[in-house]
Amino acid sequence: MTDPTTPAPRPDEAPIPPAERVFIFDTTLRDGEQSPGAAMNLEEKVRIARILDELRVDVMEAGFPVSSKGDFDAVQAVARAVKDAGVCGLARAKRHDIEQAAEALQGAVRPRIHTFLSTSPLHRLHKLNMSEEQVLEAITDSVTLARNLCDDVEWSAEDGSRTEPDFLCRCVEVAIKAGATTINIPDTVGYTTPQEYQDLFARVMARVPTSDRAIFSAHCHNDLGLAVANSLAAIQGGARQIECTINGLGERAGNAALEEVVMALRVRRDTLPFRTRIRTEVLTRASRLVSSVTGFVVQPNKAIVGANAFAHESGIHQDGIIKNRATYEIMTPQSVGLEKTSLRLGKLSGSNAFRAKLIEMGYALGDNALTEAFARFKDLADRKKEIFDEDILALVDEGIAEAQNRIRFESLEILAGSKGPPKATIELLMDGQKAGAEATGNGPVDATFNAIQKLVPHRGKLLLYQVSAITAGTDAQAEVTVRLEEDGCTVNGQGTDPDTLVASAKAYIHALNRLAIKRLRTLPPEEGSL
Ligand code: KIV
Ligand code: ZN
Repeated sequence: MTDPTTPAPRPDEAPIPPAERVFIFDTTLRDGEQSPGAAMNLEEKVRIARILDELRVDVMEAGFPVSSKGDFDAVQAVARAVKDAGVCGLARAKRHDIEQAAEALQGAVRPRIHTFLSTSPLHRLHKLNMSEEQVLEAITDSVTLARNLCDDVEWSAEDGSRTEPDFLCRCVEVAIKAGATTINIPDTVGYTTPQEYQDLFARVMARVPTSDRAIFSAHCHNDLGLAVANSLAAIQGGARQIECTINGLGERAGNAALEEVVMALRVRRDTLPFRTRIRTEVLTRASRLVSSVTGFVVQPNKAIVGANAFAHESGIHQDGIIKNRATYEIMTPQSVGLEKTSLRLGKLSGSNAFRAKLIEMGYALGDNALTEAFARFKDLADRKKEIFDEDILALVDEGIAEAQNRIRFESLEILAGSKGPPKATIELLMDGQKAGAEATGNGPVDATFNAIQKLVPHRGKLLLYQVSAITAGTDAQAEVTVRLEEDGCTVNGQGTDPDTLVASAKAYIHALNRLAIKRLRTLPPEEGSL
């Protein structure tokens, strides 16, 4: 088994014996971005790419270059920014797609073209209208072209898990013959089960005589909640590359969560004797960055990176933890980058303590960003008795997001109560200019949104309005999520503040800023979608 893209181990990295090696292929920037509402701009993609590189993924899929100019530019920017990992661009089995992918990847240290074609009977008949022979010919042509442009070519059998095993073997054989170095058998619709998927890999690898010339890869969707289990089963069947995303982001119910696959392999090496190169202590930061960029909140009980993943509530558990952490913790918080600290910040804390706290939490802000974050922290500390780590994360993340936004929140006044219709008076900064409006509504949130709508007219339909408390207590920070839909585009906005109405206004404005970015990026469906 060879992989032309394998980076040499870094000086601080113990070499992994080839038999134990599992490659991690991250597709947060491609399949992850296909989640409705998770679109990212170029700068956001580069920020995520940098943290994926720091995490030491083996390959990151940066996008689908032919789908839009924005995607082409983003793949190109990621290819240039990434220093260690392989960078991959997706292409259908079409000449133009493959040539665009090759061009966007110029400048990558380790470029990879990922070309795919559906193989299942359902897709052949209803989507492609192609015979088996035509599919085989298209695989040969597309992989041959890709191999002429790039040494590292991955071929995927879309809907592979629902393909007749005999035909799948023929497809894999021709792809390897044409030069594919990685063969991916995706569970595109999240339909398979662990035993079935494991057997499929074992069977295909045993029956294709040239299977030792390629690395086999699993790509699982989570429609039945089995994506991680199926990925681990694929490894047991012979797969040595796992395709996954941070926080399990991805089309529909998402892809296999990178952090879960990696930690399962690390914690259960006794039954799964495999290793990845991932620096697991970067996982929490990567998760938070992806969440803040996409506006997809990580559920508190999410494995590995959820806010409660290392929290112990019951007295019996707390007692056990105090006596020996191993009683209720199967991995340490530090192993995933969560620093437990005794440093408690309050309104008397100075900027040095604040800086130390941020460093401890994995943030390295420049002087200006630090001064701004500290001012926001002081403002919060004046209004809130106790400041939790989550409050600090929220205010730093919000500051980063705010710097990119053209519409900014300035102030909000609400007149509410039982006597009359609630009235909101809002002030915004729009491209640096102050603007104000007043409106009434069916409740203070409705009045606030109506006032914003007066200043920023749009056709977005409100699909979701959700409030949650980040920490406990009546003075808790409220975290509001707003989802808007306009012409088939869905965006999420988030806002945090101890005042729920201010958090609501911020979330609405965040969503409007994202909608404006999305409008610029939208392409006709035949060009832009898979
Ligand atoms: O789910 C899938 O089949 C895909 C392919 C493009 C690899 O995302
Ligand atoms: Zn997919």
